[in-house]
Amino acid sequence: MRRSEGHAPGKVILFGEHAVVYGRPAIAVPFSAVEATAIAEEATDKGLTITAPDTGEEIRLGDHTEHPLAAMARLALETLDAPEPDARITIRSTIPIASGLGSGAAVSAALVRALAGYLGHPLPTPLLSSLVFEVEKLHHGTPSGIDNTVVCYEQPIYFVKGWPAEPVRVREPLRLVIADTGVPSATRESVGAVRAAWEQNPDPFEKLFDEIGAIATRARVVIEDGLVEQLGPLMAQNQEALRRMGVSSPELERLVDAALAAGASGAKLSGGGRGGNMIALATAQTSGRIAEALQEAGAVHVWETVVNATE
Ligand code: PMV
Repeated sequence: MRRSEGHAPGKVILFGEHAVVYGRPAIAVPFSAVEATAIAEEATDKGLTITAPDTGEEIRLGDHTEHPLAAMARLALETLDAPEPDARITIRSTIPIASGLGSGAAVSAALVRALAGYLGHPLPTPLLSSLVFEVEKLHHGTPSGIDNTVVCYEQPIYFVKGWPAEPVRVREPLRLVIADTGVPSATRESVGAVRAAWEQNPDPFEKLFDEIGAIATRARVVIEDGLVEQLGPLMAQNQEALRRMGVSSPELERLVDAALAAGASGAKLSGGGRGGNMIALATAQTSGRIAEALQEAGAVHVWETVVNATE
C-alpha cells in the first residue's frame, strides 16, 4: 500500500516577536520535543480526506471547504500540478494549539510533506516554506513568515520579513525551560491588537520595535560568540518591551517571575503573547529547579530542552 509520512517540529521565538511583523529582525529555533505528523495512505473512498483524530475533524477536499488544511492541500496539489488522489491523510500533533509554539505552521508543513511524498514529488524546503506561508495568512492575517521558515528549515534562524532566513550558528548549547500558561491566545488577535494600537499611536510603537530589533541583532552576535551569560539580560529587556507593547499577561508575568526567582538568568514570553508560552534561560544546574517552580506557579506544561551547538 502506498504510504508517506511528513513531520515538522514546533518552534520558539527567542527574540523579536511582534517587531518582526514590522520588518525588524527576530531569532527563532525549532522545538522538536513537540511535533506535527501527517500520514498519507491509499483510500478506497474517492478524493482526498484529511482527518485529525485529536480534534475529531474530518475534511473532504471535494466538499469545497475553506478549512485551512483543505486550502493547504489544494495549494500543494496545484503547485505539483497533480490531480486529487484517492487518499486519506491522518494528522496528529503534540504541539499545543494557539500557544506560540507554531502549531499551525507545523501541521501545514507536515501535511504538505506527506502529500508531496505520497505523490512522489518531495518539495524543496524554500518552496515548502513559501506554500505554508500562504496558508499562515489565513491563520494570522499578517504573518511575518518566521513560523513557516523555522519549522520548514528546522534550524535556528535569524529572520527579517521578506528576506531569505539566515542560519544562526549556536556556539554554546542553550538550555531552555519552556512553560505553557494554559491560556489559549490566537496569534491573529494579538497581532491585530498591536496593529490597532500602532495605527492609533505609531511613534512609541516604532521605538519599541526598534529597541526589540536592536536586542535581536545583539542576541545573534551573543549566540554566535557563545557569550551565554549576556543572553539573560537581553531576554529581560525584550520582555520589558513586550510588556510595554501590551502583549504580556498576568499568567505570563507570574511564570516569568517564578523562573527568575528559581535562578533563570532571563525569561520572556514567546510567540504572540497574551497567554501561550514563555521561555527561561537555564543551566544544567538550574533547569530542574526552574521547571519545578514553573509547575508550582501554575504552568500546565513544562519542557526542559537544549538548543544544541551547531559548530
Ligand atoms: O504565536 P506564534 O507562535 O504564531 O508566533 C507569532 C509571532 C509574531 O511575531 C507575534 C507574529 C508573526 O507573524 O511573526
